[in-house]
Amino acid sequence: MIKNIQEEILRLKKEKDVCILAHSYVAHEISEIADFTGDSYALSVKAKNAPQKTVLMVGVRFMAETVKILSPEKTVLLSHPEAGCPMAEQMDKAYIETVKQQYPDYTVVAYINTTAALKTVCDVCVTSSSAVKIVKQIENKNILFIPDCNLGAYVREQVPNKNIKLLQGGCPIHASVTEEEAVSAKKKHPDAQLLVHPECVAAVVKHADYVGSTSGIMDYAMQSDCREFIIGTELSIAEHLQYVCPDKKFHYLSQKLICPNMKISTLMDVYHALCGEAGAEIVLDADTIAKARRCIDEMIRLGG
Ligand code: 13P
Ligand code: SF4
Repeated sequence: MIKNIQEEILRLKKEKDVCILAHSYVAHEISEIADFTGDSYALSVKAKNAPQKTVLMVGVRFMAETVKILSPEKTVLLSHPEAGCPMAEQMDKAYIETVKQQYPDYTVVAYINTTAALKTVCDVCVTSSSAVKIVKQIENKNILFIPDCNLGAYVREQVPNKNIKLLQGGCPIHASVTEEEAVSAKKKHPDAQLLVHPECVAAVVKHADYVGSTSGIMDYAMQSDCREFIIGTELSIAEHLQYVCPDKKFHYLSQKLICPNMKISTLMDVYHALCGEAGAEIVLDADTIAKARRCIDEMIRLGG
């Protein structure tokens, strides 16, 4: 059954000239039919260079908005209209404009998990894989890092010569993991390495053998000589890894690491979106695209 739907999706995608991008957190059967899978940074770069006229993003809304900002001439579809990221919606443009008045000489660094509207008042975007590299390259010593205070705290530790101001925001899924869970997982699996996403709280990150983006974690586990890992990000990453490395062992850091927004899109949603019966088209006005694009272009320039 799954195979039949996948074949039909592949046929339709070719017929309709659609590029399917899937974030690594989506289900395995979706990643199998995608043109590209990866972390937020890799997807945003792929989207920019994709030759197709239509892009279908299987992920969350801010990722589809990023594609639209980079390719305004393309039709950009999001696989499920309700797929948002709670972190991206935590801070709005009006709030950050007020905060900026208090910190006029700060460079505003926005995690890519922000709305297109918010990006219009920020200076540069970062993703979890590029944040440290980009912040190091910013000339200004004063950085206002939004919205994830956990990723921001990790960057602050890696780039101690910068004065990084954080606000209270973050991913409710990653931030729910506790230090007790990290300690007990390590005790239960003493031979395993702990690989953690920097959206986790500092008390968890400090126990990690490796800290990185979703792709960073996957690459590390695939290349490492170690045979056993505890995966400190969305459960699907451990599942994808188990497919590609059947001879290694992967454990979940916490059963709480499920992002409902990433899981809301099913293979049938992808099929229906290709048939024009589901999904949501991303529509942004020209002014939002032009202003938001400045900070995404800056991310690609500094992070590339
Ligand atoms: P990546 O940048 O690692 O893909 O992370 C995106 C995300 O939403 C993590 O929760
Ligand atoms: Fe947003 Fe967290 Fe889900 Fe990533 S895991 S999409 S940051 S809610």
